[in-house]
Amino acid sequence: VPPEIAEIERTHIGLYQDFPQPGVLFRDITPLLRDPKAMKSVIKYWASTVPGDVDLIVGTEARGFVFGAPLAYEMDRGFVPVRKAGKLPGKPTSLTYDLEYGSATIEIAENAVPKGSRVLVLDDLLATGGTAAATIKLVESLGAEVVAASFLIELLGLGGRDKLGDIPLHTVWSIQ
Ligand code: PRP
Ligand code: ADE
Repeated sequence: VPPEIAEIERTHIGLYQDFPQPGVLFRDITPLLRDPKAMKSVIKYWASTVPGDVDLIVGTEARGFVFGAPLAYEMDRGFVPVRKAGKLPGKPTSLTYDLEYGSATIEIAENAVPKGSRVLVLDDLLATGGTAAATIKLVESLGAEVVAASFLIELLGLGGRDKLGDIPLHTVWSIQ
């Protein structure tokens, strides 16, 4: 990681102990979102670290949207949202999973990802890996190939990495 990108992690990611529940050290990405110069540097660097030969980028609501859309734009690729339950029209595919603090149901639209397409799965943060594993499962259930998973932040020590199987992982910041 270039020093100026490493520095942004220290200056633009907030830390909140015991949010949203006791025992969780919450990483707040909103200081980064409100600094356009820092966002541009991070998105440009992030795009340089992921495989370019993908057809689509899939990001998970909500923070996977605010990074997934600019990253997809930077890479000149389409973006597909995986949404929390009840937001997508048609007949979406659903999956319920556990995350660091609670559980959630996510959905992907029926014809959003064509069979055989090469997909990059993206989110802001990898903690226990529950969200990422569920997103990968949804994409694979449509007959697409997840060629890589990428995160702005990987929280080491919560076992997230181990939930992704053989899928190559690209993270901007891996932290304790
Ligand atoms: C956060 C984060 C990841 C997930 C990571 O999302 O943006 O999606 O948790 O945790 P895990 O690796 O333990 O699954 P959250 O569900 O809080 O929703 P939000 O994006 O709507 O804030
Ligand atoms: N999602 C899951 N765990 C998190 C954490 N510690 N900080 C921010 N988002 C999270």
